[in-house]
Amino acid sequence: MIKNVGDVDSVISMQNVGIRYGQGAEVLSDVNLILKRGSFHFLTGKSGAGKTSLLSMMYLSQKASRGIVKIFGRNVSYADRDSLALLRRKIGVVFQDFRLLDHMSSFDNVALPLRVCGMDEREVRKRVTELLRWVELDQKINEPTSTLSGGEKQRVAIARAVINRPEILLADEPTGNVDSDIAHKLMKLFVELNKLGTTVVIATHSERLITDFPYPRLHLQNGGLKIYRPIVEKKIGRGTYD
Ligand SMILES: Nc1ncnc2c1ncn2[C@@H]1O[C@H](COP(=O)(O)OP(=O)(O)O)[C@@H](O)[C@H]1O
Ligand SMILES: [Mg+2]
Repeated sequence: MIKNVGDVDSVISMQNVGIRYGQGAEVLSDVNLILKRGSFHFLTGKSGAGKTSLLSMMYLSQKASRGIVKIFGRNVSYADRDSLALLRRKIGVVFQDFRLLDHMSSFDNVALPLRVCGMDEREVRKRVTELLRWVELDQKINEPTSTLSGGEKQRVAIARAVINRPEILLADEPTGNVDSDIAHKLMKLFVELNKLGTTVVIATHSERLITDFPYPRLHLQNGGLKIYRPIVEKKIGRGTYD
């Protein structure tokens, strides 16, 4: 049983959470989890298992149909629009469909979160250029993102999500469109961010990533969540996590 949902060091917590769309059956039922500050989890499950639905509750774009969702200890059902907007600023998201501003350049897309915070433009230039170089997109820095390939767009989306070192990083299949060398490099970016204290959740289909990076796995199946520890694959309970 989870007793202390909303502990000071729990960044995301869910208690008996269910989600349904319209009048349909629940897509996820009785989800219980506590993700501690600085933790790193993979999120797995077949297509349609509910990975994107779970992440969308975490990034506050979708409300749970029942149960309690707390982000940074705050019950999100009682938060007004302004508070939700403030909470969202601390969350970096890589969407499965990227959601870049296509008419803008790679540079401007990645600079956006920094400019929203009012960062000095020289500092913005320095940070964005450095990160785009790191994700091997420095040749495309001024191209409108509409002209980029799927893999390039994905890297811009990742750079935009991590540029201001969010407290939570949620990434929805962020390496689905890139080859395995780049996928590993991007994972290292997430690992570095995690070392700086960011709580990370990465939805992935890649067995190789899961094997190569030994982090616990949140697994969705038949509407439920199970948590598996790395190395010795062992079920440790239906959604409970110490
Ligand atoms: N906006 C929506 N309206 C209706 N059904 C949805 C919506 N989003 C997701 N679903 C349904 O919920 C289930 C889980 O979807 P999703 O969370 O996208 O799973 P995954 O990301 O694991 O593929 C699927 O059956 C999907 O069709
Ligand atoms: Mg999905």
